[in-house]
Amino acid sequence: MCGIVAYIGKREAYPILIKGLSRLEYRGYDSAGVAMINQKGDMNVYKRKGKVSELVAFAKDKDVSGNIGIGHTRWATHGEPNDVNSHPHYSQTKNMVMIHNGIIENYAAIKEGLTKRGHTFDSQTDTEVLVHLIEDILTHEEGIKMGHAVQAALKQVIGAYAIVVMDKNDPDTIVAAKKGSPMVIGIGSDDFFIASDASPIVEYTKNVVYLEDEQVAIIRRDQDLKIRNLKDKEITPYVQELTIELESIEKGGYDHFMLKEIYEQPRSVLDSMRGRLNASKGDIKMGGITEHEKKFEKAKRIIFVACGTSWHAGLVAEYLFEEFARVPVEVEYASEFRYRNPVIYADDIVIAISQSGETADTLAAIEMAKSKGATVLGICNVVGSSIARATYGGSYTHAGPEIGVASTKAFTAQVTVLTLMALHTAKVRGTITESRYRQLLYEMEAVPSKIEDVLKLNDKVREIAYTFKDSRNALYLGRGVSFPVALEGALKLKEISYIHAEGYPAAEMKHGPIALIDEEMPVFVIATKGANYEKVVSNIQEVKARKGKITAVVTSGDKEVKSMADYTIEIPETDEFLVPLISVIPLQLLSYHIAVMRGCNVDQPRNLAKSVTVE
Ligand code: G6P
Repeated sequence: MCGIVAYIGKREAYPILIKGLSRLEYRGYDSAGVAMINQKGDMNVYKRKGKVSELVAFAKDKDVSGNIGIGHTRWATHGEPNDVNSHPHYSQTKNMVMIHNGIIENYAAIKEGLTKRGHTFDSQTDTEVLVHLIEDILTHEEGIKMGHAVQAALKQVIGAYAIVVMDKNDPDTIVAAKKGSPMVIGIGSDDFFIASDASPIVEYTKNVVYLEDEQVAIIRRDQDLKIRNLKDKEITPYVQELTIELESIEKGGYDHFMLKEIYEQPRSVLDSMRGRLNASKGDIKMGGITEHEKKFEKAKRIIFVACGTSWHAGLVAEYLFEEFARVPVEVEYASEFRYRNPVIYADDIVIAISQSGETADTLAAIEMAKSKGATVLGICNVVGSSIARATYGGSYTHAGPEIGVASTKAFTAQVTVLTLMALHTAKVRGTITESRYRQLLYEMEAVPSKIEDVLKLNDKVREIAYTFKDSRNALYLGRGVSFPVALEGALKLKEISYIHAEGYPAAEMKHGPIALIDEEMPVFVIATKGANYEKVVSNIQEVKARKGKITAVVTSGDKEVKSMADYTIEIPETDEFLVPLISVIPLQLLSYHIAVMRGCNVDQPRNLAKSVTVE
């Protein structure tokens, strides 16, 4: 949510900022802005509602020179997306500018105090209030420098933030700070790169420092990086090496990141299993949970907390853990869980699932579960992310960076890791026979090549997409472990094509959605072979009887559903509990093609953001 990028060094800042903002645009794209201080000491600020490309067009003939600068791409929280509310924001004298990701919850009270002291504000944002406060402290406390003024201001702040501040009167310094929102500082040979994640940094340097909560970085030209906490204690920067590669954050010949990421799934699912699964030895190794194995053995309950697509992965896990490991599972929306005063026992295992590892509600749910004494683990994709650091252990999904806002490969990677975890737990608890366990391990190993086979159906899926591209509504149905897949299919469609779509357990259809079915209504059903197959066949008949248009995802060789459905997509056979990893692929492709045909911005759908760092 909101992308931050900043540069200080010897190069021209503007091209670095713009390239960085384009890489971060998936975090928010309501508006974009930059500020640079040129050689004469003038500060130029350009900001525009809309995409980074609109900012570039606006700044085309303007002075964009300078080797210090800050840039921002916004996802609006306070105030509608317009030029004025865009970042950077000025201080009262306009000598200072700031960019911000997060929410200052007590901004109204601070604003009131500043207004009484003569401050006037241009925008409706919380950000502008904070930069005014910083300047107010800087001008009223004698001898104080920018770093200390930022510290003093942040002590008054309630909320989450990642901020970068730049002062015209101190053109050799950038100050950055964070709490609850991510911030990475790249250390070049004679320069520094600051960003919300590593994607704008990776092509310049691999040496990075992840700022921790309530740390303030004072980044001065030609000096070493200094970090202090809000109590003014000096912190030695911990420099880490980035593991991501540049090509993993570029489109690599695909029209969209989403399509690239869909196609990466044979590889990303394999990467999620790499070093963990060895079917011939009958072995699953999950490094991050080994030390919690006893807890899994004795656990009375596992609670998954997550949002969005990650919540759907949690729902799949519920079926797997209950089936194989015989442990009761609850799957919670993090946003509800954190405010519900839930009953949590010390012998509960709480597992947070998050692609970004930064989702504010999920982070808060983790803290709450920790405070009640539960064992709290994480399943994250982004290495070193806040959730990965906040949990006692867990597993990375290793899907590689996911840039498309609608999650695809992160979902299958989450389900892969959760499946391995469920099987491992079953083994530890002695709730699965050796032969069933072995059979599932072999089936898991075969999943990547089966996903590859499904991807070959792309042309067929595109044809089906064409039929439904003008629909206004859609229904997705599934039973058992395919129910969460129906939810995920519906979510994908509404996220990127803006067609209203709902996922339902197929049998629940009779309790409401059936009223919507007519010859206009596309109904997508996951009707693969398994214990519920015949039941789903009956549900399909109920839809057909009301003239609904059925598209069914079926097991290769199926005849019964094929004879009833208007369209079928045949996917390779696998164990019925592993089907989600394969059946979700055509649904991802379907949404993708429908969105492209409708002229939607697939990678940056309206109003959404990839990393939701505000609650
Ligand atoms: C946003 C994204 C979704 C994602 C959800 C949870 O809504 O657009 O794709 O599933 O956040 O994010 P997380 O990073 O915690 O998995």
